[in-house]
Amino acid sequence: MPEGTFTFPRGFLWGTATSSHQVEGGNKNNNWYAWEQEEGRIINGQTSGLACDWWGGRWKEDFDRAVETGQNAHRLSIEWSRVQPTPDRWDENALDHYRQMVRGLNERGLYPLVTLHHFTDPLWLTEIGGWEDERVVELFEKYVEKVVKALSSYVTTWCTINEPNVVMAMGYIFGAFPPGKNDINAGFTVLVNQARAHARAYHKIKELQPESRVGIALNWRGFNPAKSWSPLDRFSAKTLNRLYNDYFPNVFTYGVAKLLTKKVVLPEAKGTQDYIGINFYTSDTVSFDFKAKDAMFIRRFFPEGSDLSPHEMIASQPDEFFKSIKWATKFKVPIIITENGTEDTEDSFRRRYIVEHIRNMWHAISFNYPIKGYFHWSLVDNFEWERGWEHRFGLWELDIKTQARTKRPSADLYAAICGENALSSQMVREYTPEIIEKIFP
Ligand code: GAL
Repeated sequence: MPEGTFTFPRGFLWGTATSSHQVEGGNKNNNWYAWEQEEGRIINGQTSGLACDWWGGRWKEDFDRAVETGQNAHRLSIEWSRVQPTPDRWDENALDHYRQMVRGLNERGLYPLVTLHHFTDPLWLTEIGGWEDERVVELFEKYVEKVVKALSSYVTTWCTINEPNVVMAMGYIFGAFPPGKNDINAGFTVLVNQARAHARAYHKIKELQPESRVGIALNWRGFNPAKSWSPLDRFSAKTLNRLYNDYFPNVFTYGVAKLLTKKVVLPEAKGTQDYIGINFYTSDTVSFDFKAKDAMFIRRFFPEGSDLSPHEMIASQPDEFFKSIKWATKFKVPIIITENGTEDTEDSFRRRYIVEHIRNMWHAISFNYPIKGYFHWSLVDNFEWERGWEHRFGLWELDIKTQARTKRPSADLYAAICGENALSSQMVREYTPEIIEKIFP
């Protein structure tokens, strides 16, 4: 049996990621709360409810769990609707609450990465048109200014917007997120406004805190042609890759990017990413399909024989993870894996998924690709958007009735990796013996 250890660079960040609406509970002033009240929007009519009760203070015990399991970083998000409940009012108590949380991270030795927008909008913003209305650019800048002023003693790494590409795809093509549209033109307006808002926020944060590091978290998903000889499949894959993966980093690098045939020129966005955040879960195989009218005539599926997560949402494709990292190197900025994980209540698939992905991240680091940290999604089961509580992504299981947390074996595996800053053959043999030969051939 070969023995071996994949060691990570000193100072590598190992953490988990969460977002305000998914963990806080009692958020009633945003568009997701409103969405949850509408029939048929969330699986089995579930709602976020008390979530993980972080607003009630349980963030403390969960941060303790992170520390006890060897983590040295955490990514969380700020809820705009709490900080600015109405357009003309800032809630200093809410800001103080967040100040306590980020101080709580500092005190525990957890390096904070703070996201300023993670899917949810204040209701008042939705009422004036949300991200389709260009006023959002200035409003977002004001909100960001307020938060950064309040938290800058504790935080230097900021993520302006989480997965702006998902907001567009889910909200404006598939209609599964608010505002539930199938309107690509409105979606394009949103993509432009998000890029403009990010650029404005970037410059404002730099003005307030020159030493800060600012970027976004992009959901990177590879699109590979089903038949490599088919020009239509190849064209479908290329179109999706350009639109979904390339648009934001291109506009933040060059100030110019393409949205299908439309050229977006935003000189103020040039050079506004200090790092690139990658949220990687899975990739798709795609083929051109006349029947897929509502999905740009593109059918997506997983490669045959894939190792699938329990709800078949995710196919473990660690080579695609490597590809995402390699792709990111072309932007010549540090890379942070801002999310990676899987739904798996029974924790039968997750351990394998973690090992395979972390192994390939190490492979990328061995090429000197500048990866600074990895944030597993997620610390504790939390409200999984349109999939409610059916999809469980936590290293800890959450009983939503009692708020009790139960550690899954993956938490111990991850603790071993974080604690040793390495993935070893011993860990693989202990937690995922079924793939030892694949990982250590
Ligand atoms: C991401 C999102 C997270 C989380 C995760 C798991 O797209 O940023 O909030 O829900 O997916 O599905």
